Amino acid sequence: MPSSTMPPPTPTSLYGGAAGRRVTVRDLAAAKERHEKWPMLTAYDAMTARVFDEAGVPVLLVGDSAAMVVYGYDSTIPVTVDDLLPLTAGVVRGSSRALVVADLPFGSYQASPAQALESAARFLKEAGAHAVKLEGGHRVLPQVEALVSAGVPVMGHLGLTPQSVNVFGGYRVQGRGESGEELMKDAKDLERAGAFALVLECVPAELAERVTTSLSIPTIGIGAGPATDAQVLVWQDLMGLTPHPARFVKRYGDLGADLDRAARAFAADVVSGAFPAQEHTYR
Ligand code: KIV
Repeated sequence: MPSSTMPPPTPTSLYGGAAGRRVTVRDLAAAKERHEKWPMLTAYDAMTARVFDEAGVPVLLVGDSAAMVVYGYDSTIPVTVDDLLPLTAGVVRGSSRALVVADLPFGSYQASPAQALESAARFLKEAGAHAVKLEGGHRVLPQVEALVSAGVPVMGHLGLTPQSVNVFGGYRVQGRGESGEELMKDAKDLERAGAFALVLECVPAELAERVTTSLSIPTIGIGAGPATDAQVLVWQDLMGLTPHPARFVKRYGDLGADLDRAARAFAADVVSGAFPAQEHTYR
């Protein structure tokens, strides 16, 4: 959408209700009760976190998608806790209102509830995250229970869980046919285990709607249709930095073209001597 036709940024009432302090998981629960929809964005550094925070985005996710958009890997598998900790700390420092959720990367929680607690504790203690996210259903219920009982808010993630791309054999829609009932059971089990919210990625819209109406915790869709309580996108997809985004992405900016134009103009000015000019020069 061209910026001239975009509506002005309107803070959500979730944002309004939490003015002057950080959004909490209780605020998100209250928004679900009010049937109020809200946005979540990924963030990986202090500057973009500040922009999104000031725009009123109530939840920022330091996703393991950083593996691809920050570190340049072709999947989320290689990224580690040590890679994500400084990014998370930057997002916390750059924001003052948003709830900051840190993604537990592949290999940092699957082994045992104790491993999950050790990894989550690092994100809370060393980076200041307010919650963690992990992927999977019945296999990670003991981890979710251990984290919640230790006081760590947990966001679940079902459907296309990119850390399992090698099991899925590619990035494809999940939850069609009978596997939809399995996903529904996992969703209810995660809620029972104490998750405060649930990401549904690349699932049929009808299934996402059934999960959303069956749960009392908020669902956050990405490629899951319009019925979820919240929507999340990777910010580089939304802003037009990703060359070939997935079908579920709507572009709200063209940063790739803007950066390209600016880089070329800078290079041309340096080569021609037009930069730096008098006004950029100290005397
Ligand atoms: O890592 C990530 O960015 C995510 C979101 C896409 C939900 O998990």
